[in-house]
Amino acid sequence: IAQAAVKKAVELVPGSLLPGGRPDPLVRRQHGQIGKPVSRVDGPLKVRGAAPFAAEIALDGMVYAALAHSTIAKGRIAAIDTAAAEAAPGVVLVMTHRNAPRLNPPPRFLSGDKAAAGDDSPVMQDDRVRWNGEPVALVLAGTQEQADHARSLITVTYEEEPAATTLSSSDGCEVGTFMGEPLSVKVGDADAAFAAAVHKVEAVYRTPGHNHNALEPHAATLVWRSDELFIHDATQAVAHTAWSMAQIFGLEEAQIHVSSPFVGGGFGGKGLWQHQILAAAARLSGRPVRIVLSREGVYRIVGGRSPTEQRVALGADADGRLTAIIHRGVTPKTRHSPMPEPFILPTQSAYAAEAIALEVQTYHLDMVANTFMRAPGEAVGTVALECAMDELAERLGVDPIELRIRNEPDKDPISGRPFSSRNIVAAYRAGAERFGWDRRSPVPRSRREGEWLIGMGCATATYPYHRMPGGAARITLDAAGHVRIDVAAHEMGMGTATAQAQIAADRLGLSLEAVTVRYGDSSLPGVILAGGSQQTASAGLSVMMAHRELVGELLKLAGNDSPLAGLGADEVEGTDAGLRKLDEPGRFESYASILARSGRTELVAEGSAPMPLETMHWSMHSHGAMFCEVRVNAVTSETRVNRFLGSFDCGRIVNPKMAASQFRGGIIMGLGLALMEETQFDARKGRIMNRTLADYHLPVHLDVPDIDVIWTDIPDPHTPMGARGIGEIGITGTGAAVANAIHNATGRRVRDFPITLDRLL
Ligand code: MOS
Repeated sequence: IAQAAVKKAVELVPGSLLPGGRPDPLVRRQHGQIGKPVSRVDGPLKVRGAAPFAAEIALDGMVYAALAHSTIAKGRIAAIDTAAAEAAPGVVLVMTHRNAPRLNPPPRFLSGDKAAAGDDSPVMQDDRVRWNGEPVALVLAGTQEQADHARSLITVTYEEEPAATTLSSSDGCEVGTFMGEPLSVKVGDADAAFAAAVHKVEAVYRTPGHNHNALEPHAATLVWRSDELFIHDATQAVAHTAWSMAQIFGLEEAQIHVSSPFVGGGFGGKGLWQHQILAAAARLSGRPVRIVLSREGVYRIVGGRSPTEQRVALGADADGRLTAIIHRGVTPKTRHSPMPEPFILPTQSAYAAEAIALEVQTYHLDMVANTFMRAPGEAVGTVALECAMDELAERLGVDPIELRIRNEPDKDPISGRPFSSRNIVAAYRAGAERFGWDRRSPVPRSRREGEWLIGMGCATATYPYHRMPGGAARITLDAAGHVRIDVAAHEMGMGTATAQAQIAADRLGLSLEAVTVRYGDSSLPGVILAGGSQQTASAGLSVMMAHRELVGELLKLAGNDSPLAGLGADEVEGTDAGLRKLDEPGRFESYASILARSGRTELVAEGSAPMPLETMHWSMHSHGAMFCEVRVNAVTSETRVNRFLGSFDCGRIVNPKMAASQFRGGIIMGLGLALMEETQFDARKGRIMNRTLADYHLPVHLDVPDIDVIWTDIPDPHTPMGARGIGEIGITGTGAAVANAIHNATGRRVRDFPITLDRLL
């Protein structure tokens, strides 16, 4: 099936994988570096401990920061006593709203009506408290221990006001929006279709809040040099941070330099939060500042995923074809973030149905801003939808894979657009065979080994293809045949530089060793963010466009004496460290020769990616079929995951070694979501009660079984390199696959997540 689909994809749009109708004659020969399991170029540095992270940069005269956090959710600071802290050993500065410099409020992420996330609360500008944990003071001292100690000496008296901490104490619900669009979709009359359906299931699923728990907590080391700010940051968004800080401090963007060559994990929300702003505001100390959030500090000031309550109602006809899909629910947000958890997103393109009604209702709470968090929307939306599909399959007496295949849409059920490429059936078939799905008993609780009940479950994974506008890259080619790529991309462990080096080497006809990639700095061109699983596509297309410019320049330089005389950029390809006419190997000149004849030591070209119009023409998503086998202890109700398989359909895989790692990492996050992760929010105080990894459980090695990953590797004819995103899809579908396996093992349907043993007893 996969081979036939590959053939079809290539025949469909011969030679053209570039969006916007620009033909890309080189795409058919992208089979050199692309697709090779190259090891990460940053690997040796990481293994040796020589990769510098933001909290490891040492600056002369540097002081260490500690934050004091509010202990009420809403009210005002009546008094704040900092005298003891100021007198404590080593203290250089205590900053509160009384002496903090005037700052503009932070802009939201992607500002304006279309803002996607971000928290625009004023930062230490007044005596107001907006959430429990908001910073009320920043202490700078000679050592971290001195700063932490002095911070503990600060006493705050509050005038507390009633806070909204529950749905009933909030001011009511309204339809949520995502990037300016209402999260409300209607096709036909789904309620009537559901009422009339032959078969139906209806259930409410609840997912808890989730917090960021990257190995490296949020951190920055920064220094002012006259009116320029240099930030060594741990961030997924160097350019956006520079742009935001410029607005906050009333400066030009060029006065802010953000560097972030290595990021110790992102989790989605490793962007601009109050810590960088406060550390920069503390310039009145005249000292460089290192600020490293404690694990508790991350829970206090960095937004997470909000809890959701989702009702899914599915109606089907006698043949098991869906006639109604209803997916509605509620989730809290704050007034200062535009983003609710958009859990209906995966349902928009999931299944063919005559009538569909989807809606996210939101209500405002006084809490830390919610944000992008590890496949926002899809991670928890697929939990509800894909568990409901399993419930419907059981009701119908149909195999859950068969039910999904029966309801596979031939076009986007909401927008009516064709799918750019969708091979989910192939992914299911390949996965089922590899996993041994035929060994699953459809009767729950029918397989037992000693104390353990064994079960299998599956679920569909999905994550949209994105590509952000504004992508740009620069290529510098030197006479020795070495190339440097400059692109403001980020390395969170996914292999950014490696992937871009592979793309560049292929197009230039160079060895991988001849390419270096500079990234992670706001002074470099292009790339807004490592997020939305879109960085490789955005940066890759930028590199391809810069390469095109470079080839044009090279052909101009080559001139009339070259074997390439008279040729245009589309008529040549890079090979053997030079250019050659397509299909005419005799007409070749090396880069070194072209540069030497024109007396150049290097050639620089910059290119920008076209607007991401492809998503307006096609419905574009990565897909996957997730398979899980669990054992549940019949005595203790402890769940262990025996085996897991992710069978993906994400277009062409640029680097199988790195992709397997991305898929596995996502699946591990999904296992955490299914079985253990839970932000404990105490509504009496509006306070997050988890403070450490001892009371916020994540999967550790012993919780993670062998995770098998396979993929269709069918190129998407409408994306750069034929690739779609792979960063977040592993998190989606996983929760439902685990829950469905638990049901198959035990006969118990748990709809409140995480599925801890008390919920199974
Ligand atoms: Mo992902 S939450 O968009 O980094």
